[in-house]
Amino acid sequence: MPSYDPNAMPLTALVNLDKPLDFQGYVAAGGYQGAGKAILEMQPSDVLELVKDSGLKGRGGAGFPTGMKWSFVPMFADDDEHKPDNKYLVCNADEMEPGTFKDRFLLEGVPHQLVEAMIIAAYTINANKAYIFLRGEYFLCAKRLQCAIEQAYENGWLGSNIQGSNYHLDLYLHTSAGRYICGEETALINALEGKRANPRAKPPFPQVSGLFGKPTIVNNVETLSNLPHILKHGAEWFKALSPNSDPGTKIYGVSGRVKTTGLWEMPMGMTIRDVLYGKAGGLQDGLELRGFLPGGASTDFLTSEHLDVPMDYDNISKVGSRLGTAGIIVLDSQNCPVGMILNLLKFFAQESCGYCTPCRDGTPWVVEILTRIENGQGSIDDIDSLNKLCDFMWLGKTHCALAPGAVEPLRSGLKYFQDDFLQHIEQGCCPLKKDHIGVGLKQNHLTKNPPAAVNGVKHE
Ligand SMILES: Cc1cc2nc3c(=O)[nH]c(=O)nc-3n(C[C@H](O)[C@H](O)[C@H](O)COP(=O)(O)O)c2cc1C
Repeated sequence: MPSYDPNAMPLTALVNLDKPLDFQGYVAAGGYQGAGKAILEMQPSDVLELVKDSGLKGRGGAGFPTGMKWSFVPMFADDDEHKPDNKYLVCNADEMEPGTFKDRFLLEGVPHQLVEAMIIAAYTINANKAYIFLRGEYFLCAKRLQCAIEQAYENGWLGSNIQGSNYHLDLYLHTSAGRYICGEETALINALEGKRANPRAKPPFPQVSGLFGKPTIVNNVETLSNLPHILKHGAEWFKALSPNSDPGTKIYGVSGRVKTTGLWEMPMGMTIRDVLYGKAGGLQDGLELRGFLPGGASTDFLTSEHLDVPMDYDNISKVGSRLGTAGIIVLDSQNCPVGMILNLLKFFAQESCGYCTPCRDGTPWVVEILTRIENGQGSIDDIDSLNKLCDFMWLGKTHCALAPGAVEPLRSGLKYFQDDFLQHIEQGCCPLKKDHIGVGLKQNHLTKNPPAAVNGVKHE
């Protein structure tokens, strides 16, 4: 593993899950310096250029360059008759992707970092209202965020004339009523408006017409959390954190039957082996690695031949998957790939908003076929049907990216675990259920163990 200082990883350096820093503690640790620099010393256009130069990419899954996204927000002179009465910044803290739990750590462990980050981002796009859209079950995050927001108001970092400037920002916490689709940015905007959380057609993109029809930026928690550090230390520092062309750090997660499940912030571009074996300690005794989803449930399987691929956006996509949320889900030798894919597809079928036919009808149809195969009642024609469904539900044929994401573990599973599918059909049962009765390990079990560590810090 390339050497780096685990104590110098910026996003999680101040994480304290038991007792996060309050306002005074955060300021004493250097907090709010980035926001102060932005608001008191820089024009919004300077901050935008800095973020563009840093090369920061969105950590919500798609990896879209953050500065470029912000640059699509129209800027207006004060006396411009077309100036909208508001623009909005929204932090996407929905985090319902199975196998993904990185944002929760930042929110629970260092809530002021996100508040500071949102001040910087909102100032840059000239928004005076900002929202944190939080997963409803994240009760502790909600409590800690609300406390941080109140402290920021009390200390002049939110509200009118922030730190004596002309800039005004109100920040609201909104807890989700709870659907996976609410994480899709336009469905999130609908939910925030009090409407049914169906994704919107794009264009228009939210940067131009988003929340209440006004220019809106939606960014992920981890994306935003980089901003105070980029403001403080500069674009070159940010680029130098990573050994390759994708800059910065990444919070990698591992779930499944490894020795230590958890989260680790590391330079972007560490290899999968560095994360899976170097940090998570490899698989539990007696188990072998069959494959893994590198970036949450909606990414394509990779296998042990990919262990030395760097975990960054470009390199993972070159081998046919996506970095996604960088939450690695491990498939071990006592876990049935067909059962695991069935489990995931059940989730996606349940969470489909039902708006478009390929997703509404396709996901339950896949579940029906996979259930048949897993129960030993499948036929060879079912494999053909599954391959066709992967095509019918692919990008460009659906209203949003939910169904294409759902298809990723399926289409790659059909490629890498073809023999497993065939064995189910030929033997008339799940081979693992037959061979391993008595080992005491439940099939179709993904992440029963809660994450055990963040940067080696144990937590409950
Ligand atoms: C079905 C679905 C669920 C999503 N869930 C999340 C989520 O929970 N958190 C998130 O940040 N992005 C999620 N996204 C991606 C968002 O639509 C959006 O791209 C992201 O919030 C942009 O932030 P970024 O540019 O900082 O990455 C989801 C996308 C889809 C299609």
